Amino acid sequence: MEVGHIPVMAEEVMSMLAPAPGGLHIDATLGGGGHTERILEATHPDGRLLGLDADGAAIARVDRRLQPRYGDRLILRRANFRELATIAPAAGFGAVDGALFDLGLSSFQLADTDRGFGFRAGGPLDMRFDADRGVPAFELLATLDAAELTALFRRYGEEPRAGRIARAIVEARRIAPITTAEELAALVERVAPPDPRKPRRVHPATRTFQALRIAVNEELDALQEGLAGALDLLRPGGRLVVVSYHSLEDRIVKRFFAAERRGCVCPPEIPVCVCGRNPRLRLVTRPSMTPTAAEIEANPRARSARLRAAERLAA
Ligand SMILES: C[S@@+](CC[C@H](N)C(=O)[O-])C[C@H]1O[C@@H](n2cnc3c(N)ncnc32)[C@H](O)[C@@H]1O
Repeated sequence: MEVGHIPVMAEEVMSMLAPAPGGLHIDATLGGGGHTERILEATHPDGRLLGLDADGAAIARVDRRLQPRYGDRLILRRANFRELATIAPAAGFGAVDGALFDLGLSSFQLADTDRGFGFRAGGPLDMRFDADRGVPAFELLATLDAAELTALFRRYGEEPRAGRIARAIVEARRIAPITTAEELAALVERVAPPDPRKPRRVHPATRTFQALRIAVNEELDALQEGLAGALDLLRPGGRLVVVSYHSLEDRIVKRFFAAERRGCVCPPEIPVCVCGRNPRLRLVTRPSMTPTAAEIEANPRARSARLRAAERLAA
């Protein structure tokens, strides 16, 4: 049976993006195409959407599922959203009404045992969204020293037991390299077991896996660049909507929105603005939106979602 990906906060995404017939939109994280499909329905009959995903399997799947229905209203590109500034104008999307980022990974990727995203994946611990670029996670585990691994787990996973986990990895690989997600999850569970007095909501290796995935895909740099690229493409009144799944991502979105809302970057001690930068965004969600309890109940993957939306000003 094929797994499906349920689009997270779909109602909220649509109300914040507010797509109208004839609109031009970018879905920077196509995944299973759930949000894309809704946007294309709302922009019927002639709205167009550019869908990006770094994962070729996502592009192929959405191409099969949606292209027959939407034809040339749906333009697909296998690309990293950090390249949005060049990809979008080249595809005829130089000025758009809205852009959506639904970050992280899809249920398809999580379920694919050859990609190494899920704790029980027996295949190679790869974790690259784009299998043709970058260094797979198993290679990082084999080559970084204990201090580097500790820093990585701390920085990208905010893992309090980073040092212990890093030392255990270095110890374990003296005997045999860690090559699968299953092996890594078991090792973390052994050296950093959950507190039996606390209710266990997530797997003890969650933060370790998050850290590796962020490092492998350079996710935080990509997000920063992707947001900047999208903002440059928005028409006045156009909406930028971002759904993030952990605090590191959300912090970047929040700071980006705040900086673009402020505009001026002059130090406070300067009496008049000399930088000349104007505010480019107006916040639409203040501070942010989270899924309803009913959605979390129906789709636990939505649990950590946080949505922020902003509107491009005329400046
Ligand atoms: C949560 S899923 C999106 C699900 C989608 N909104 C839906 O309704 O089906 C995130 C997708 O973004 C892709 N992705 C993550 N980072 C990316 C990046 N920097 N550039 C392009 N795609 C990226 C992943 O490959 C994954 O398919």
